[in-house]
Amino acid sequence: MILVTAATGNVGRQVVNGLVAEGRDVRALTRSPETAGLPDGADVVRGGHLDLAVLERSLDGVEAVFLAWPFASAEAAPAVVETIAKHARRVVLLSSIAVRDDVPEQADPIGAFHAALEEPVERSGLEWCFLRPGGFAANTLAWAPGIRAGGTVRDAFGGAAQPLIHERDIADVAVRALTEDGHAGRKYVLTGAEVLTQAEYARTIGDAIGRPVRWTEISREEARERRAAQGIPPSFIDFMLDGYAAMVTEPGPVTTTFQDIMGVPPRTFHTWAADHANDFLKT
Ligand SMILES: NC(=O)c1ccc[n+]([C@@H]2O[C@H](COP(=O)([O-])OP(=O)(O)OC[C@H]3O[C@@H](n4cnc5c(N)ncnc54)[C@H](OP(=O)(O)O)[C@@H]3O)[C@@H](O)[C@H]2O)c1
Repeated sequence: MILVTAATGNVGRQVVNGLVAEGRDVRALTRSPETAGLPDGADVVRGGHLDLAVLERSLDGVEAVFLAWPFASAEAAPAVVETIAKHARRVVLLSSIAVRDDVPEQADPIGAFHAALEEPVERSGLEWCFLRPGGFAANTLAWAPGIRAGGTVRDAFGGAAQPLIHERDIADVAVRALTEDGHAGRKYVLTGAEVLTQAEYARTIGDAIGRPVRWTEISREEARERRAAQGIPPSFIDFMLDGYAAMVTEPGPVTTTFQDIMGVPPRTFHTWAADHANDFLKT
């Protein structure tokens, strides 16, 4: 049995789908089973993994865990990891490209946050694998209300370029690491293969949904306010905006890790946008 936490999340849902498609026994944790829309083949359990009693119960008979941390603080991570280690043998952690191995202390808040998740996992005695993806293609879903309302994306740093990754690519690697030997102690830095600017990503969404999408550049201050309204922790926002500013002149790095593991190239952003066309179209 494989337990998937945050099972309705961008990545978790695709991990559940991938494992069910392979005929694996999957248990999926969600606080709202009724509306989760998870596949019939999964054993859907109500609750969240920060609730240790729920987690303990959901770990019965579990060998491997997909662990995601969609929370603002890493404080509870040691207790959660300790609970997992009492039952399971293997854990695959959704971490981040922001973690640096070549520095004694992480220099930025996103790296520090994810390092604080990785540390208890490394100490746990579990067989672990870290997935360290770069920016998610799904981050562009934040543009969906503007695109639905009038075909416009209002954001800052339209010239910032990076290789966004499809959540299904992250999930494909997660499924491998959960189900195969040979991934223990590996830290997989995962990115897409195409480096597009933000304005080009917006245009590609337009191509995929068959409607023009325009980029409207806004100030950094307005972009900060919009992100705060989306619930992004304030300590992350300036770091994220600094990152976009830097990627205008120095695009985000591309890795071949996905292709090395899966033997095929990562999905294109056009594929991602076509998979999500309904999110950008008026209902
Ligand atoms: N976005 C990026 O560019 C990026 C880049 C690198 C790494 N990451 C990592 O990826 C993570 C996000 O993954 P994701 O996009 O797959 O997640 P997500 O879509 O944000 O969703 C996570 C799921 O977690 C569950 N959840 C939310 N609050 C919860 C709570 N209090 N207790 C229990 N469950 C809760 C929700 O499920 P239910 O409502 O069904 O319970 C939700 O569907 C980030 O936190 C970060 O660590 C992100």
